[in-house]
Amino acid sequence: MEKGWRNLNNDERNRGISNLGLDGNSKIPMTTARLRPLEIRDLDSIMQWVNDPAVVGNFANFKVPISRDDEQKFLEKTIASETDRVFAIETEQGEYIGNAGLHQIHWPSRVGRIAVIIGKKDHWNEGYAEAAVESLLRLAFNQYNLHKVWGMVWEDNPKTKHLYLDKCGFTKEGVLRDEYFHQGKYHNIVRISMLEGEYRARRTEA
Ligand SMILES: CC(C)(COP(=O)(O)OP(=O)(O)OC[C@H]1O[C@@H](n2cnc3c(N)ncnc32)[C@H](O)[C@@H]1OP(=O)(O)O)[C@@H](O)C(=O)NCCC(=O)NCCS
Repeated sequence: MEKGWRNLNNDERNRGISNLGLDGNSKIPMTTARLRPLEIRDLDSIMQWVNDPAVVGNFANFKVPISRDDEQKFLEKTIASETDRVFAIETEQGEYIGNAGLHQIHWPSRVGRIAVIIGKKDHWNEGYAEAAVESLLRLAFNQYNLHKVWGMVWEDNPKTKHLYLDKCGFTKEGVLRDEYFHQGKYHNIVRISMLEGEYRARRTEA
């Protein structure tokens, strides 16, 4: 199995950064995750996790079971959508491990919602989501010229809060109280965001 960013020592991290031509002081992690546009051919890979409660159980809008036909229609619609930009996350060896995207993009405001799913559970906690978020932010602010990227994380999910707030530098905007009734109880949702200026400031900090 590939050695994730999380498991590398500092020398290995610096070598990785210099291989990518990045400044050794940069806060950007080595991109061990690659993003490529999501395609219909990813359907079989997606079907391997899309009905797994351990992966999608935190998403109130995932009504399992999802049939292959339903998922194909959803995929076709999302790929063609003007307001979504969706990607497959791959390891450096080209193994598909999940999906990442910018959704609900409101082009006049230059605002979009971020979402990342690592569907291959054996690759959790190896730094892939962090790398995917960093790649999405780079695309959002440098390629799509967005002004703001926002997201929603469950208040009772410490892992995703740690990922976006602590590791990736998002700001907590507020709490949507009792926003979802899911699995027998109400859940608060934390709305998070990053502005373009904040993204650029993070990159110039040593
Ligand atoms: C949430 C998810 C995207 C994270 O992906 P990942 O590749 O495992 O994330 P990373 O490895 O980049 O980072 C995980 C971090 O959380 C930490 N973590 C793991 N379990 C944790 C817990 N119970 N509480 C707090 N932090 C936790 C890890 O140690 C790591 O932090 P570190 O690098 O500081 O040690 C992935 O688990 C997933 O797809 N889950 C299902 C779908 C989902 O919930 N998506 C998010 C919706 S908002």
